[in-house]
Amino acid sequence: MSDQGSMLFSPLALGTLTLKNRIVALPVFTGYAHTDGSVSPLLLEHYHSLAASGPAMVVVANAAVSSEGRTAKGSLRIDQDRFIPGLHRLARVIQSSGALACLQLNHAGRYAISDTPMLPSPADSGHLAFELASLKHFMESFPFDKRFGLTRFLMNKARGWQRGMDDEDRNLVLTEFGAAALRAQQAGFDLVELHGSSGYLLTQYLSGFTNGLGPPLGGSPEMRASFPLAVLDAVMAHAPGLPVGWRLLLQEWVPEGIDFSEASAFAAKLDDRGVAYLSCTAGAYTSWFLPEIRKRMAKPAYLSPHLHTLTQSTRAPTVISGRVIGPMQAEKLLRSDVSDLIGLARPLLADPQWIAKARDVKDPVKACINCNTCIKRVILNQGVACVHWPSRKKEAIDLEVDMAARAMFKTLVLAANPRDLRRLKSVWQHTLPLRHYVDTTVAFLQHCPADSEYQAAMAEFQAWSMDTWQSMGLEPNDLRFTTLDAVHERQEPDSLALSLARSQDRGVIVLCRRKEEKWRERLLHRHKFGIAEVFGTHPGFNDILVPFDLSWASLLVLKTLDWAFHGKGGFSFTFAHVLEGPKQAALDRWAEVLDILGWDPDTPLELLSERPDVTGALLHLLEDRNLGRVIMGKRGRSGLARLFLGSVSRGMAQGLASRSLTLIS
Ligand SMILES: Cc1cc2nc3c(=O)[nH]c(=O)nc-3n(C[C@H](O)[C@H](O)[C@H](O)COP(=O)(O)O)c2cc1C
Ligand code: SF4
Repeated sequence: MSDQGSMLFSPLALGTLTLKNRIVALPVFTGYAHTDGSVSPLLLEHYHSLAASGPAMVVVANAAVSSEGRTAKGSLRIDQDRFIPGLHRLARVIQSSGALACLQLNHAGRYAISDTPMLPSPADSGHLAFELASLKHFMESFPFDKRFGLTRFLMNKARGWQRGMDDEDRNLVLTEFGAAALRAQQAGFDLVELHGSSGYLLTQYLSGFTNGLGPPLGGSPEMRASFPLAVLDAVMAHAPGLPVGWRLLLQEWVPEGIDFSEASAFAAKLDDRGVAYLSCTAGAYTSWFLPEIRKRMAKPAYLSPHLHTLTQSTRAPTVISGRVIGPMQAEKLLRSDVSDLIGLARPLLADPQWIAKARDVKDPVKACINCNTCIKRVILNQGVACVHWPSRKKEAIDLEVDMAARAMFKTLVLAANPRDLRRLKSVWQHTLPLRHYVDTTVAFLQHCPADSEYQAAMAEFQAWSMDTWQSMGLEPNDLRFTTLDAVHERQEPDSLALSLARSQDRGVIVLCRRKEEKWRERLLHRHKFGIAEVFGTHPGFNDILVPFDLSWASLLVLKTLDWAFHGKGGFSFTFAHVLEGPKQAALDRWAEVLDILGWDPDTPLELLSERPDVTGALLHLLEDRNLGRVIMGKRGRSGLARLFLGSVSRGMAQGLASRSLTLIS
């Protein structure tokens, strides 16, 4: 299709903005954000390449207006000013390709990851049978081994659906939406979109299925619309001049749910208030997995008839979504006035070249096969990926998502006496500002409050570390100090430290080695899903052995090195593999891993023979080369393998003497 004469590549005015063509990259929740809701490098890269592929507007999915309104740990957040700089970078990478950057604002309501979720009214027991049937079909869409965890997760959620929001809650949500819109504007987004779809909070008010309130907020469709409209008003008032689009649910397909006539009446109200566009969808979590709905949603452009009607009756441009498979079909939809804009979600995942190919009909697009693996992945917190992507790309995504889930940038440093503090000082002189230290809490463990030497050392360490921190250009608020009172809490230091790390979502725990104090080694092994680092006194701290055992944990180790040590000179790394299988298989996997990481393909891997055993071979290499530190993964051997082979990481921890050890799990 040449640009000339094609509607798909013709511009469209959107208020004062101009869309360079008619293609909108619809919001697709990726799960790529850091666990604290900030923008991750993976997210920047994803939206950068999406925008570069040529759509006129990119809608960044699902930014939570409240920490209590997140759909998942990998959701973006916009509920505090500290998220603005990251979001600014995100808006810029999209705009740098000439696309408009739009941020979708959401409150997940009853689906939020919160112990006290917000919902219009308590769950209606009259809908229980339908909810259970829908849950059954939802579960059947997942592999057997995932069903138990998912059921438990959803049941826990449903337990929180006992209490409806009161006026105070509603006022809070209105303020949160307004403040979020202002932040989006400050971050440089061209527009925001309010997520009125998929069954989240705004839909929960609109729908008779979830809104059991009486007047003035429930009962008739008009009453049910009043809170979502108040949200729109709040957004427009807080961020004047910022165009606001609406994700509109045309049909919910649940008992007493939103139908097309209700949706059209609501759309007219949105139109009167001057929304920038209406981006249409259908279905919600409760209906998507029902067999008859899946059949409907498998049909090409299944929303066309409703869209056609809506497009004729509204001033705001409409966006169609749902199985717009190829460019010719998209052109036809525009020419027959079905919608003003073409929304693509999965087609752009399935074929990142979709838009380029639309310009050049010679090349057919790789069509989305509607397998919904991408959706299931995000539901399982795995990060979005398409079955069409090369396996190395998927592995790279898995790795990034695993990294992002580990809160690797939030560190807890533990000190228990003046000796620890002296050691930490000498280590920090080498290591700051490695990236995993950029947000650190130093916890001073108190055994005996009257110890004046320790008190003086703590004060001195605080002053010194804050000076060093600031001299390295790090943010002063990101270095905090606290005490852990082991005497009064009557808990072992490792348990105290672990609960502090969990409560502050700290993925990294750092402490000094002392063989005689068993809690230190216990902590090293008990800290799961992150980095545990113990410093010894061996001077070769910067000469590092990295065992590579072909496992996923090993790959995570290399990724962590890449991330933490990036651009920091002065360290030497020895990568070693103890052969447990064929040599060529190890070398092939090493080449593959270097490719996934984007490292120099000539990075050497030393191959060691498995004598006397894996741990022995590694310890021998350490001695031989006088290396002072080991960074390795916890492979998590279990069952017979663990019984016969033992845990390599435990073996290393015991055999290292004065050396430092970093374990990544
Ligand atoms: C993995 C995935 C995540 C999605 N996340 C969102 C979201 O965060 N917000 C939203 O409004 N729609 C979301 N959607 C719905 C899409 O925007 C779109 O409406 C739907 O996939 C149908 O369009 P398609 O056939 O072009 O994929 C998501 C869809 C998928 C597949
Ligand atoms: S994973 Fe399946 S449904 Fe998702 S975009 Fe790829 S082909 Fe389409």
